Amino acid sequence: MSSKEYFDEVAQQWDNMREVFFSEAVREKAMSVAAVQPGRLAADIGAGSGFVTEGLIQKGLKVIAVDQSEAMLAEMRNKLADSDGIDYRVGEAETLPITDETVDYVFANMYLHHVGSPPAAIKEMVRVLNAGGRLVITDLDEHTFEFLRTEQYDRWLGFKREDVERWFVEAGLRRVGTDCIGEDCCAESSCGDEYASISIFVAFGEKGPGV
Ligand SMILES: C[S@@+](CC[C@H](N)C(=O)[O-])C[C@H]1O[C@@H](n2cnc3c(N)ncnc32)[C@H](O)[C@@H]1O
Repeated sequence: MSSKEYFDEVAQQWDNMREVFFSEAVREKAMSVAAVQPGRLAADIGAGSGFVTEGLIQKGLKVIAVDQSEAMLAEMRNKLADSDGIDYRVGEAETLPITDETVDYVFANMYLHHVGSPPAAIKEMVRVLNAGGRLVITDLDEHTFEFLRTEQYDRWLGFKREDVERWFVEAGLRRVGTDCIGEDCCAESSCGDEYASISIFVAFGEKGPGV
């Protein structure tokens, strides 16, 4: 099964799964680090069923929500049917369906550990940012829970924060840093013999002129 097939299959249960994995504190921290302003345009990459998009809409932003899984985006459309200002786009990590320098913020929550090449995915997210725009990624610290690879199609067992910071700098971002979210992502293996509790980081950076 591919990652896309996996997320198509779990789309209808994703919101319930997500509530077990992590809380709204993750998106609150991401939006606070970005210092989001109402009226601005954000992209939510690997948007899934709209966890981050929903928070951004509540704060008065417009959002381009991108995901490889039509089923996840369909869940978001149903859930946020009454919300204006969401542009739903099916797309892939390395060829995002957004033109250069379009958005003021890019968010990607629990997405980076699913992509084939994290540095290439980061460069692609930077491409769509306006000068002065901010990239904010929330994801897992490095861990050893192999069952997440086999059961949840994670490609990477989290990341070293210094690697993520280096990829941000190599993509042309400035004022780069990482911080703790202050909560763990929690998941139990299907047969109940393993329990993962993995700290979550936020990584941030700003696009300078001429990048
Ligand atoms: C763990 S879910 C997180 C969803 C959402 N951001 C959230 O916080 O609830 C990862 C999402 O990234 C999407 N995704 C994974 N790999 C992708 C890729 N290469 N291109 C586009 N989307 C991808 C999946 O379809 C899935 O919806």
